Amino acid sequence: MVLKAIEESIKPVGQVNVGSVPAPAPAAETAAVDGESVYKGTCMACHATGAAGAPKVGDKAAWKPRIDQGMDTLLKHAIGGFKAMPPKGGNANLSDEAVKAAIEYMLSQSQ
Ligand code: HEC
Repeated sequence: MVLKAIEESIKPVGQVNVGSVPAPAPAAETAAVDGESVYKGTCMACHATGAAGAPKVGDKAAWKPRIDQGMDTLLKHAIGGFKAMPPKGGNANLSDEAVKAAIEYMLSQSQ
C-alpha cells in the first residue's frame, strides 16, 4: 500500500495527473488590488466563520449597521484595528489600498 503510494508519487511527470493547474497570475497584477484574494488570504480566517465575533461575509444583518457607519469609518477600523478586529487583519504587509479592496469585496457579498 505504502509502496504503491510512493510509486504513484515518483511517476514520470507526463503520467501524473496534476489536475487543474491554476492559470498564472497576470503580470500587471500590481495595477489593481484584488480584494477577493486579500480577503481569502487574510480576512477570511475570521470573517468567513465569525471567529472572535467578526461579522460574517454574507450576513446582511450583521453588516447593515456597520455599513451605515460609512466606508471611511470601516476603513479606519480595518486599518487601525477596532475591538477584536486586529489592525489590517493582523497582516501588516497589506497596503491601505489592499485593505480597502478587501472591505469592498466583503461588502459586495454582504448587502
Ligand atoms: C483575527 C480575526 C480577524 C481578522 C483576521 C480580520 N478581522 Fe475584521 N473583524 C474582526 C472582528 C472580531 C470584528 C468585529 C469587531 C467588533 O465590532 O467588535 C471585525 C470587524 C471588521 C470590520 C467592521 C468594522 C466596523 O467598524 O464595524 C471590517 C470592515 C473588517 N473587520 C475588515 C477586515 C478586513 C478587511 C480584514 C482583512 C484584511 C479583516 N477584517 C480581518 C476580526 C477579524
